[in-house]
Parts: sequence; structure tokens; C-alpha cells
Amino acid sequence: MILSDLVSHYGFLNLPVPEHINLKEEILRLKKEKNAILLAHFYQHSEIQEIADFIGDSLALAQKAQNNSADIIVFAGVHFMAETAKILSPQKKVLIPDLNAGCSLADSCNPQDFKQFIDEHPNHKVVSYVNTSAAIKMLTDVVCTSSNVVKIIKSFPKEQQLIFAPDRNLGRYVAQQTGRDLVVWNGACTIHERFSLEKILELKQQFPDAKILSHPECTQPILAVSDFIGSTAHILEFSKTDSAQTYIVVTESGILYKMREASPQKTFIPAPPNDSTCACNDCEFMRLITLKKIYTTLLYELPEVQLSAEVIEKARKPIERMLELS
Ligand code: 13P
Repeated sequence: MILSDLVSHYGFLNLPVPEHINLKEEILRLKKEKNAILLAHFYQHSEIQEIADFIGDSLALAQKAQNNSADIIVFAGVHFMAETAKILSPQKKVLIPDLNAGCSLADSCNPQDFKQFIDEHPNHKVVSYVNTSAAIKMLTDVVCTSSNVVKIIKSFPKEQQLIFAPDRNLGRYVAQQTGRDLVVWNGACTIHERFSLEKILELKQQFPDAKILSHPECTQPILAVSDFIGSTAHILEFSKTDSAQTYIVVTESGILYKMREASPQKTFIPAPPNDSTCACNDCEFMRLITLKKIYTTLLYELPEVQLSAEVIEKARKPIERMLELS
């Protein structure tokens, strides 16, 4: 099989790697040799965060993708993030170590149905979360992330009717925060909807001084009992400056690596999911990215994110609009 066939078949380079090599050292060497940059989301495995050039939330990663002098971007995150990097830096080679690293939220909004939804709501402007495919971004006026969603919605005049997609929980949250009446697409992130309110409240009884920190993609009953609601970057910042010593963290558990690193004296407890057979909430898509796949990706420069010039041009405008407003 040639390498591109492996990518078409598996979505990644399913190749054996010699056992004796030190993957971290090899990745660092290849990055330097090829003038490549490794961007990682807070939800990535800790060993990936340890060697990344930049770690951030969706907004910071998009900004970094646009502003760097590398020839190659290796994206340790999910597909829509790598796609956004390619849209913002089309002259660069953008690699994602596993094309199967999707996003349940992005998948909950397909372009045909979304186009019909927009047609059913004439005179509405469209605000889409960055957790969408390029095809959805092409139908969007302004993109947003969980860091800037309130600001983006407020940037529209009060009388402007708005569609918000695709996350129903984030949509409800931002409608409350801004007092705006939004037409919200009925999508959700399976990870953030998996947390158990009952178990979070049990933890709170066990640790009464603990503060509950939640991502706005969580369901309303969980947001209602939270002490702080914000993007991964905002949750991390809050935990650094806040005076509490213990936190129940209601988002993907990858964020705990940076929280513990920044505040080693504090205790961070990952919120439990409904399904008690697993100990924490890991995004199965984020966790598809491994050191081994990053190594083979850098070595062979595959899989690469490919987008047509038309898609790049049309999807770029709403992302750039967001970056101007941020
Ligand atoms: P932020 O990066 O904006 O915190 O959101 C991450 C995400 O994709 C949640 O599903």
C-alpha cells in the first residue's frame, strides 16, 4: 500500500514505528528540521501538551494558526480546528495526525439541513460556533468560539434577528447572557451532555468548599449550579487567580493537565459522567491523536487538510470577521 492509500483506508498512517526510538525527541527533531509548529488544544493527551509549541482554546489556536512563521502546522486537535488553521493559512501545509478526529457537535449540523433552516428564517444573520465544518462556515456571517460568543452576539444591533448554531446549550446560555432572542439549531456535544448533575452534587457534598467550573456546552441544570462558566482558557485563568483550593471541573478532562501545572497546590476533580463505567470524561475524538501518529505525520507529511480555493475564500470571511471583533 502506498502512503496515501493508508490514509484513505485508515484515516491515518497506520505504520509500525521502531520500538527503540524516543517519540518526543524525534518529533522535536522533525519539527525543527521541517520548520513545523505543533499546535495543541487543552483537551489533548498531556504528553502531547508537553511538547507542543502552543497550547490553547479554539480562539487562541485560530489566532496562532494565522500568526506564525512555520511552513507546516501539525494540528493536535479535532478536524474543524485543523480546517480553520488551513482556511486562515492556506499557503501552509496543515497536517492532522488522524482524519477520524471529528467532533460530535460539528457532525450535528449538516450543510443541506442547515441551508434549509436558514431559508426558513429570512432576514436572520447567522452566527456559527467554530465547532462546525467549513461548509457550515460558508453559510455563516460571523463565527464565534466559547471565549467570544457573548461579544460576537452583542456586536449585532438589538433589532437584528439571529440564528445561532449548532450548540443548543451554548445557544441558551448566550441568549440568557445577552438578553437576545436567538433561533438556535438543535445540536450538542456528546461529551458535555454526558456529565451527571447528580454525581456532581454528590461530589459537592463531599467537598463543600469546591467550586464548580463548567464549559457553556454543558446542559442547563449543570450550568445553574456552577460557580464559573467559561471556555477552556477562561476556566484555566479563573482557577489560577481564584482563592478556592478545590474545583470540580465540568469539561473534557485534558484541561486538568494545565490547571494542575499552573496551580500544583490546588485540587482539581474531573466531573463524572452519567455512565459510571468510565472514570472521567474524555473526548474520544481528541484522544485519537497520539505521539506515534504525530511522529508519522511529521515524517511523511500526511494526512494533509485539503480544501478548495472556493471553500477557503468563502469560509474565511466569517472567521476573519470573528478575529476582527475579538
Ligand atoms: P474552547 O476551546 O472554546 O474552550 O471549546 C472547546 C471545545 O471544542 C468544546 O467542545
